[in-house]
Amino acid sequence: MMALETTARVKLLGLSGSLRSNSYSRTVLYSLQRALAPNVCLSVRDLGLPLYNEDEDGDSASDDVRSFRSSIAASDGVVIVTPEYNHGIPGVLKNALDWASRPLTRSALARKPVVVVSISPAFTGGVRAQASVHDTLLAMGARIVGGPQIVIGNVAEKVVRGEFVDNVSLSFALGRINQMMKDIGRSESKRPLAIASASLPADLREVAVAG
Ligand code: FNR
Repeated sequence: MMALETTARVKLLGLSGSLRSNSYSRTVLYSLQRALAPNVCLSVRDLGLPLYNEDEDGDSASDDVRSFRSSIAASDGVVIVTPEYNHGIPGVLKNALDWASRPLTRSALARKPVVVVSISPAFTGGVRAQASVHDTLLAMGARIVGGPQIVIGNVAEKVVRGEFVDNVSLSFALGRINQMMKDIGRSESKRPLAIASASLPADLREVAVAG
């Protein structure tokens, strides 16, 4: 199977809603990263930022905050993978999105295409957190790439030796990323998935071709 053809190198930014060292959210991001075509670069960054304080924004914004905003601005699109905390958005992700939302009229996320994936060791897959993330993104004018929610339940059973092995979910998420690239006019391909076949296990390649 051919990799997706794109008009130019595509830069995506991956954000994990968890800081945990063995985070399933980050594991899923790295699996997506490996599955993307060679001309699609997904950089993953953690969200260890200071707590939002308007007194420390504007000219006083820290280097970490400036770099975070710049990395969003420099990307063609953002992929968020997040757990659910107490039926909502984890504080670390909400905090980062609050930083990204300012300056009010020049938010790096305004009109930025965003794909959201939620995960949970529970069968519910973090679906409530995902709705909450969507609400927050809408408040800052981000372009959520819509469709059936990408919800990964029972995630602990789908990570084996540090690898995310649920190829159906991976394929579903890749399809949404492909949709994002079409939306931003960076894909000329009619093929459904932004994947490099050589980097995928055989059964996912079959899912991709079937899609
Ligand atoms: C959780 N977890 C959780 N899971 C869920 O499905 N619904 C929930 O409301 C919560 N609430 C919650 C609160 C807090 C404070 C913690 C620490 C955890 C479990 C959570 O989904 C699980 O720990 C994930 O593995 C966290 O994601 P990462 O770190 O693996 O990416």
